Parts: sequence; structure tokens; C-alpha cells
Amino acid sequence: MNIILLGAPGAGKGTQASKIAEKYNLLHVSTGDIFRANIKGGTEIGKLAKSYIDAGKLVPDEVTCAIVKDRLTWADAQNGYMLDGFPRNLFQAEELEKFAKIDLCLNIDVDEALLMDRICGRRVCKCGESYHVSTLNGATKCRKCGGELYQREDDNPRTVKARLETYNTQTAPLINYYKAQGKLATVTSGEGSPDEVFGQIIKILG
Ligand code: AP5
Ligand code: MG
Repeated sequence: MNIILLGAPGAGKGTQASKIAEKYNLLHVSTGDIFRANIKGGTEIGKLAKSYIDAGKLVPDEVTCAIVKDRLTWADAQNGYMLDGFPRNLFQAEELEKFAKIDLCLNIDVDEALLMDRICGRRVCKCGESYHVSTLNGATKCRKCGGELYQREDDNPRTVKARLETYNTQTAPLINYYKAQGKLATVTSGEGSPDEVFGQIIKILG
């Protein structure tokens, strides 16, 4: 099963991807995570991506599509995968069709008013876990691996505003794109707790 996780910044794509990966044994491919790893590693891709990410804009399509196309050829992608944060515009969606067969697009729908707080309150761990400060009770270490929690550089109000604008103008049209293909399933409980949202996803995935 090959799935796309669609949703605004802060909708909970990464949170649900960890749960889905564990239950359904699907590979989690997050283009945002790949870019951040490249930035950390000081690669050419990282240097290019940083200026776009800091501005809340999309990294150029040619770079992003080439990365995903390559990643899906790896052995660990052959049993099924979840694409988190890709495609993010119509061009990427059309490119994806040339090298992948998508079964389902899961759209996590969340009231935009909640997103700023969710993102600016997010703390992440290098192991991939993410938390909201309101649930940490002052803790600064990851519950899963004990790693030090930190804030993503693009999780500041100014960049989040730009990311939401990018989502609304470029990514949201994909909802109708996948609906027209009969592949869209919308998670309407996006404002519920992570477990409630996951419960609805399990009902959809079976
Ligand atoms: P990316 O890393 O994909 O960021 P994003 O899309 O902005 O999404 P987020 O990771 O911020 O949110 P999420 O939906 O994963 O939410 P999470 O589960 O963490 O992309 C970053 C940048 O990379 C882009 O801006 C762009 O520049 C570039 N990029 C990436 N892909 C690209 C592409 N295809 N093309 C071009 N450029 C690309 O949850 C958020 C918070 O809410 C957390 O604190 C979490 O604990 C909390 N939370 C989650 N679920 C719930 C819930 N149900 N109830 C309460 N709190 C919750
Ligand atoms: Mg994410």
C-alpha cells in the first residue's frame, strides 16, 4: 500500500506517520525530514533548501522530485510507503504518477486557527518524535530515546504564516486532484487527540 499524507503545516502528518509506520509496517518518507538532514549534513541540497525552508516557500520541484524518485527505488520502500509532505503542488503530483503507483491520499483536515499554536509549541527529537510543550510538563528530553528536545528553525510565527500561505495556494488544490481520481479519504477528526485521529485512520485503512 502506497499512501500520501496530505495536510497543512501542523496538521499532524508526522505524528500520524509514526503511528501508521508502526502498525502497518510502511516506510515513512518525509521530504521535510530529508531536507533537514541535508541541512544538518551541510550538503549542496541542504544549502539550497535552507533558504526556501526559512522563507516558508517550496524547495524547487526538480530537486524535490528527484529526491523522492530516488528514495522510492530503495529496497525498504518496496513493501509500501507513506509520503509525508510530497507532493505539495500539482506539478509534483503529476511527476509522482510517472514513477509511483499511489493507492490512497489521506487528507488530515484541521481548523487553521489551531495550527499556529501547534507548530510554535512543537518540540522535536532527532529520533523523529515530536511533542507539544503543553504535554511535556517542563520535560526537555524525548520520552522514547532520552534525546534532547529542540525547536525547528522554521517553527516561528513569521515562517509559519508563510508556510500556511504556501499550503493554501499551492498544496490545498491537491485535495480536489485526488478526489477526482477517487483516491481521497479525509480524516475529519483532525482536531481530536492524536489517538482519536489515528482511530479514524485505522477505520479508513482497515
Ligand atoms: P515539512 O517538514 O513537511 O513541514 P510541514 O508540512 O510544514 O508540516 P509540519 O512538519 O510542520 O507538520 P505536521 O503535519 O508533520 O505536524 P506534526 O505531526 O509535527 O516541510 C518543511 C519545509 O520543507 C516546507 O516548508 C518546504 O520549504 C520544504 N518542503 C518539504 N516538502 C517539500 C516538497 N514536497 N516540495 C517543496 N518543498 C518541500 O504536529 C505538529 C504539532 O502538533 C506537534 O507539536 C504535535 O505534537 C502536535 N499535534 C499533532 N497532532 C495533534 C493532535 N491530534 N492534537 C493536538 N496536537 C497535535
Ligand atoms: Mg512533519
